[in-house]
Amino acid sequence: MKTRMISINRAELDNASLEEAAAILRRGGLVAFPTETVYGLGANALDECAAAKIYAAKGRPSDNPLIAHIAKISDLQPLVSGIPEAGRRLMDAYWPGPLTMIFMKSSLVPYTTTGGLDTVAVRMPDDIIANRLIELAGIPVAAPSANTSGRPSPTTAGHVFQDMDGRIDMIVDGGPVEIGVESTIVDVTGDIPMLLRPGAVTVEMLRETAGRIEIDPAIEGPLKSGIRPKAPGMKYRHYAPNANLTLIEDENWDGGAISAKVVETIIRLASETAAKGQKAGIICTEETKALYPEAAVIRSLGHRNREETIAHSLFAALREFDSLDVDDIYSESFSGDNLGRAIMNRLTKAAGYHIMKV
Ligand code: TXA
Ligand code: MG
Repeated sequence: MKTRMISINRAELDNASLEEAAAILRRGGLVAFPTETVYGLGANALDECAAAKIYAAKGRPSDNPLIAHIAKISDLQPLVSGIPEAGRRLMDAYWPGPLTMIFMKSSLVPYTTTGGLDTVAVRMPDDIIANRLIELAGIPVAAPSANTSGRPSPTTAGHVFQDMDGRIDMIVDGGPVEIGVESTIVDVTGDIPMLLRPGAVTVEMLRETAGRIEIDPAIEGPLKSGIRPKAPGMKYRHYAPNANLTLIEDENWDGGAISAKVVETIIRLASETAAKGQKAGIICTEETKALYPEAAVIRSLGHRNREETIAHSLFAALREFDSLDVDDIYSESFSGDNLGRAIMNRLTKAAGYHIMKV
C-alpha cells in the first residue's frame, strides 16, 4: 500500500485536503492525524472491518480496545447507553481536551472497536485538524496512538511515517503535537470514577470537578499476577524503546533537585555500558545535563519544573535513542504529582518498572 502524506497549515485549514482524508475514513480506510496529545491512527469506529485494519497495521492484540473520537458533545449519545452524572460534569469541564471517558456502549458500536468489552472509550480532541477531520468524515473515528504496538507514541508525523509507511492510506501532517503524552482515561461506569491512565487532565483537576476519584492500582506499579488492569492496554509492554531503560532514584528523594548520588550512579552505569563496548544513553534535565560525560548520548527533556516541556519531549527522546542504536538508557526520575504522574507512568512502563534506588 502506498501511504500518502499531506501537510495541513493550522492557520489556514484547507478543507479540500481534509475532505480527501475524511472520504478515506468514510470508505473504511486508515488515516493518521494529529491530536493535541499524540498522533492517532483513525478508522471508522462503527465499521468492524475498518477497525480490524487498525489492529493489523499496529500489530495490536485484538483484546486491546480503541478510543472513539467525536467532534461535538451531541455525537456521544448514540455511542453509549447512558451518561452518568460524573461523566457529564467531567465532559462539561474538559471537552474538548485530553480526557477519555469509559461509558457502557450502545449496540451501534461493534465489539471489534471495544476489544470485546461492553464499554466504549470516547474522547473529543482539542485539535483543530482532528476536530475538522472528524466533523467532515461525519462518523466517530476510532484512533489509537499511531505507533507500532509497543513503541513510543508518535508526537510528529515523521514518527508516524517511521512506523506506518506502507501500512495505511494517508498521514495528515499538522506539525508537532502540543502535549506529547496520551489522554487521561477515566472510567465513569461505576459509583466512583476511576482513573485508568494519567494524562494532562490531572487527578488534582478531576477531583476538583468530580469529587472522589479512585486510582487503578495498575497505574502505580507492576501488576501482581492474576490481577487484570481495567484498561486492557495497560498490561502490555508499552512506550518502550529497544534499549534497556533503568530509572535511578535517590531513596531519600523529596521530589526536588536530583542528588549528587543519582548523578554519580548514572555516570558509573554509563561507563560500565561503554566498557562492554556498548552505547549508553542518559535522560536528564537542563539542570544536570552538563554533569554527564560527553561519551554518552545525553538527552535533556527540559527544565525540571516545566513539566509540560518534559512531557512534550519524552517520546521523541525515546525514539531518538532507538535511531542512534543506544543499548542502555539511564534516566533521572521525575516527581509524581500533576502532569508528573503521567510522565512517571510512561517512563516506568517504558523501563518495565526497573527502578534502581540508591
Ligand atoms: O491521547 C490519546 O488518547 C490518543 C489520541 C490518538 O487520542 N489515543 C490513544 O489510544 O492513546 P491508545 O489506543 O493508544 O490507548 C487507549 C487506551 C488503551 O490502554 C486501552 O486499553 C484503553 O485506552 N481503553 C480503550 N477502551 C477501553 C475500555 N472500553 N475500557 C477500558 N480501557 C479502554
Ligand atoms: Mg497507544
